Amino acid sequence: MNITVQGVTFSYRSAPSLIGVSLELQESQVLGLIGPNGSGKTTLLKCMNKILEPKQGRILLGEKDIKKMNRLDVTKHIGYVPQTSVGNSNVLPVFEIVLMGRRPHIAWQSSEKDTMKVWATLKMLDIEHLAMRDFYELSGGEQQKVLIARSIAQEAKVLLLDEPTSNLDIKHQLEVMNLTRKLVTKERLAAAVAIHDLNLAARYCDKIVLLKDGGVFAAGEARNVLSPEIIRTVYGVEVAINRTNNISYIIPIAPLN
Ligand SMILES: Nc1ncnc2c1ncn2[C@@H]1O[C@H](COP(=O)(O)OP(=O)(O)OP(=O)(O)O)[C@@H](O)[C@H]1O
Ligand SMILES: [Mg+2]
Repeated sequence: MNITVQGVTFSYRSAPSLIGVSLELQESQVLGLIGPNGSGKTTLLKCMNKILEPKQGRILLGEKDIKKMNRLDVTKHIGYVPQTSVGNSNVLPVFEIVLMGRRPHIAWQSSEKDTMKVWATLKMLDIEHLAMRDFYELSGGEQQKVLIARSIAQEAKVLLLDEPTSNLDIKHQLEVMNLTRKLVTKERLAAAVAIHDLNLAARYCDKIVLLKDGGVFAAGEARNVLSPEIIRTVYGVEVAINRTNNISYIIPIAPLN
């Protein structure tokens, strides 16, 4: 299912946090949302998930304006993993948290099918052993995996992941991005991933949207968007880029004065 953002503008207060943002995320695509701190990535994902309502512009899920969809409908189609606040005090066991992802599908009470789906998802993410642990006592990375499991159990067609790798060690970073890539391809999902790691973005995303001060500064394939000139302008950092096997590796050299 495609999701289209058309000319979205949003302000929390007087200064706009998003200004005329447009993008298209297609089925079987991983879109990397990058940009400096405060450039609007989280705000955009929240608009795409109807947590925030744009002041201008619209967001279409397939052909449908999400403004006209109710919450349950949105959660049936869109899975959202927020930027984690480590130290979340949720006392529920992991199994219950992932089962919550089934809520849009549960008519009255959860069935064996829902239980099976939860176990299958925990297994797929290799976190079965965490099932009975309380969420709040997990490490930041374990919490992130549980929240990803919840949106997978939800069987959403669109995944919006806000910095899913930020608390993970390098092995788990690759695992989560591999898994996202695999799910997107196999289940024909569409995923938008806000991410600071430009190397992970270059390697796993089909398309990159680079935000600067709430607007789209550049968009397209990683090898075009992640140029030394663009990175210098947007991040104020001198980088070297090494291309091996058609993947760009970005090496930070020094911040500009
Ligand atoms: N709840 C809020 N109230 C007021 N302003 C906010 C709120 N949330 C974000 N902002 C502002 O909106 C702008 C965009 O913030 P946003 O969180 O979308 O950035 P981001 O790109 O996700 O940053 P980061 O990389 O640090 O997560 C920033 O200027 C921020 O200060
Ligand atoms: Mg953010």
